Amino acid sequence: MDVLTFLVLIIGLVYSLYLYSRSGKQASQSGIVRIPPGPKPLPLIGNIFDLTAKELWVKATALAQTYGPVYQLSILHPSLSISQPLVFLSSPEVCFDLLDKKGGMYSDKPKLVMAGELCGCDDMVAFTGYGAQSRRQRKLIGLAFSKERIPAYQGLIERETAGFLTGLVSAHTSSASTASSSSQPLPSRFLSYIPLIRRYAGQLTLSVIYGYTVPTSYTQNVHDKFLDMAEDCVDILSNKIASGGGIWLVDIFPWLKKAPKSLESIPLFSFLPKSRAWKAKMVEFVEKPFEWVKAEIERGTQKPSFCSTLLENSDAVVPSAVTNGHMKRKSDISPDLLSSWASASSAVAKPVTANAKEYAQFEFDLKWTANSMYSASGDTTVTTVMHYFLAILQDMDTGGEVVRKARLELDLVTGLADDSPPAIKPRLPSLSDRYIDVDVPDAKGGTRKVKKPRFPYVEAVMSEVWRWGVVVPLNLPHRLTEDDVYTPPPSPSNPNPSPMFLRKGSLIFGNIWSILRSKELFGDDVDEFKPERYLPSPHEEAVLYGPHDEDEYEMIRKERKKRDPRSYVFGFGRRQCPGQNLVESSVWLLTATLLSAVDVRRPCVEGEDAKESVIIEKVDFNNSVFRTPDPFGVDIRPRSEKALEVIMLSGEGEEAESL
Ligand code: HEM
Repeated sequence: MDVLTFLVLIIGLVYSLYLYSRSGKQASQSGIVRIPPGPKPLPLIGNIFDLTAKELWVKATALAQTYGPVYQLSILHPSLSISQPLVFLSSPEVCFDLLDKKGGMYSDKPKLVMAGELCGCDDMVAFTGYGAQSRRQRKLIGLAFSKERIPAYQGLIERETAGFLTGLVSAHTSSASTASSSSQPLPSRFLSYIPLIRRYAGQLTLSVIYGYTVPTSYTQNVHDKFLDMAEDCVDILSNKIASGGGIWLVDIFPWLKKAPKSLESIPLFSFLPKSRAWKAKMVEFVEKPFEWVKAEIERGTQKPSFCSTLLENSDAVVPSAVTNGHMKRKSDISPDLLSSWASASSAVAKPVTANAKEYAQFEFDLKWTANSMYSASGDTTVTTVMHYFLAILQDMDTGGEVVRKARLELDLVTGLADDSPPAIKPRLPSLSDRYIDVDVPDAKGGTRKVKKPRFPYVEAVMSEVWRWGVVVPLNLPHRLTEDDVYTPPPSPSNPNPSPMFLRKGSLIFGNIWSILRSKELFGDDVDEFKPERYLPSPHEEAVLYGPHDEDEYEMIRKERKKRDPRSYVFGFGRRQCPGQNLVESSVWLLTATLLSAVDVRRPCVEGEDAKESVIIEKVDFNNSVFRTPDPFGVDIRPRSEKALEVIMLSGEGEEAESL
């Protein structure tokens, strides 16, 4: 350590000591209710040693077993006014009580100096503080991704899924001879699914949000300006800015950001040049696709999309777009949706009466919202599909029962089994296959239409992928905006819980991992991948879809909701994931398509002795925000000649679209 670094640390330490002595007195004078329990903080540094960058959710869950569903860790000692309390919520009841029911004070986001101010992510939806801006942004997302809007994307989702599948199958065969590199012992074909999932998630969002179609098909490995840019920035966001949990020294000591340039060669201040370089890339990522849509509108060559439709309705500023006949262009987005965006946008943007300032605000919100949806879809989708592959690899190790049971359902519709009756024309599943409408008698002697899943086991596989994998195990932290006092509900281990004082500014982590690994909710075999746990019993089935007593119906529905991983995996309250309706459809189609058309096995490679051996890799989770597995190999092949034909045929449609 050089002299200057040493000096800065000493000054920081002395300053902390000063605050420690002052704030300790204040705390002791005001103590009526106690702060939440937790491991004893060390003098000055607090619970820093209780925090780990790797799989913090596992440690956080173990701590909940000792300290209960609400406990606190602290960066720096809690008696210091500059300390940062981290509150972990580990049961559904406490998450809903605080993050949902008290959403008005639990929906803010931490002000991260490094990620937000220095790297320029302040205006991304996931980073925006709770208030007018976050509400405007979420309203815009609602226009694109509310439940009612999703059926309009059916064409896009099916096209991208078919393309992805063709890419998977082709990558496996075309790169079969690719040699492995020294750093990666597996031949690349076993890892080619990872860039393909990224591409799938990126393309789907690019077309919905910007109307941009990547000009090459999934079987062509050609770089694309926007996909590459997004890949770069998502990597910066999740692997660089968020490395170590996303908290940098400058987040705790914001004055470090004012360091003069001359100090930047010192490792302590190397975050400054890094942040400038990352910010430049992030800004480009926000601006470029948005500028592209605007240029397309000016040329009259735009495809209908979330951005173009909203922009075109702001006729005061983009006059050239108003008279273009582009709305008649062929689109995968339904005309109904386009016109509803158009009418809804006028409510949001008030373009005709808007003055320049309001319009600038609208455009600013729109471009950051668009980018946020793009950024948020990449890692989450990749992680979900990787969890699916991990689960199926395990299933194959133990005889492949999950795949067998799922295919029993799917083959009846897709005709992809070798012995499927010739009357069923072989095809991939589509989104319209998912539900059948049944008439359920209601209390007034009439009937009401209810959507009943056609493939209950496939639904159960999807639910289990969400539960077993847990994409964002500690949720994204919320920030408490006012002091609060909370008494957790009584439990068998603590029948008389005491009220707790939660300090304004605390970061609140909804521990989704601990909920989805709760034996109380899901049974003793929580670590196993077991879709059967969601299948309704014959009695539940009869009540849900037949004549029933309303009270019993409600009770069963509530109980099933409590055990539905979707009630937790997308977060809580007013910051809940706004992309969940889209992934509910897109991930279902991916799951159904992969189950019905491809076999998934562990890689098998030929050794120097010319003998083949199956590779069983230990999978690690090193990302501190998403539970993304480190890359692992998968051998993905069409299930049969019949399946290969169907995949290639569906891919041709996709290729024709992208040309
Ligand atoms: C694939 C599965 C996905 C999972 C499991 C997931 C999960 C989550 C979670 C846990 C949060 C934090 C919620 C909270 O703070 O309480 C979140 C936030 C968010 N997600 Fe997702 N997400 C997924 C996909 C997507 C997609 C596809 C999009 C966009 C198209 C998206 C857009 C967002 C945005 C914009 C936020 C920030 C919301 C805010 O802070 O107000 N997500 N997501």
